[in-house]
Amino acid sequence: MTACEASDPFELSLYGGAIERRYRRASPEVEALPWGTMDLDRFGVDQIEAARSGWTQAARQELESAAVHARVLEQMVRARMPLDLIALSTQFQREELVHAEIASRLAMELGGGVVMKDEPMRLQVIDRSPEAELAETALWAMCVSETFSHAMLSEGLHRAKAPLFSAARMVIAKDEAAHARLGWLLLEGLAPDLTDADRSRLRRVAKASIGEVSRDAEAVLKLPRAFFSEIAAVGDMDPQSYRDSAKAAIEERVMERLRGLDLLD
Ligand SMILES: [Fe+2]
Ligand SMILES: [Fe+2]
Repeated sequence: MTACEASDPFELSLYGGAIERRYRRASPEVEALPWGTMDLDRFGVDQIEAARSGWTQAARQELESAAVHARVLEQMVRARMPLDLIALSTQFQREELVHAEIASRLAMELGGGVVMKDEPMRLQVIDRSPEAELAETALWAMCVSETFSHAMLSEGLHRAKAPLFSAARMVIAKDEAAHARLGWLLLEGLAPDLTDADRSRLRRVAKASIGEVSRDAEAVLKLPRAFFSEIAAVGDMDPQSYRDSAKAAIEERVMERLRGLDLLD
């Protein structure tokens, strides 16, 4: 094992042996998926290429999410949150690693992951109260990002027919819904007691992170049609309806709720 350089291509590996067996025992859902059942003859080369790239990208994002939940765990400890609530976050770290494996194995089923530059996320150093820090991470990482991914995975799920892809999305969507729920629980519990300065910072973070997912939602309109198929990371949707569902999810599931907390205009 060597440390990762920022210029290395993104790759996942398993240590194997007893370590892997222990991991498999704790997370049997990966092996339980119907691997090897996907008939790729119905798909064009461009669709398969697009799906390989989408699932490689998804694997990298899921891996980074494990680090985000580790950060949430640390911030919950510093903010002296209840023990049972902190324990939830330990489970989320493993779930994100499982999602990373599922996404990368979906790419393997399609012929392998694509070469993609790896850029490990850098966590910044901040000097605010533990509660303010935790509320901020809960807001962008869980309330906005996890709520959005859950909404979009569920959309893809409704349209997925192939058992492998629908079962894989089902595992991930169910977990992301729980991750989003913890985010809202934390934010709703913490936000009212924060200082005015912390609350104005939260309002800026809310605006910025909504801007980010909204830009992602608009960007799908520019993707080639091959990026929308049963095997694609996005799923079998036409770009316009993906964009419209994404916008609706951001408005109804994220923005309305943030307005209720007075964290958004
Ligand atoms: Fe995930
Ligand atoms: Fe998640």
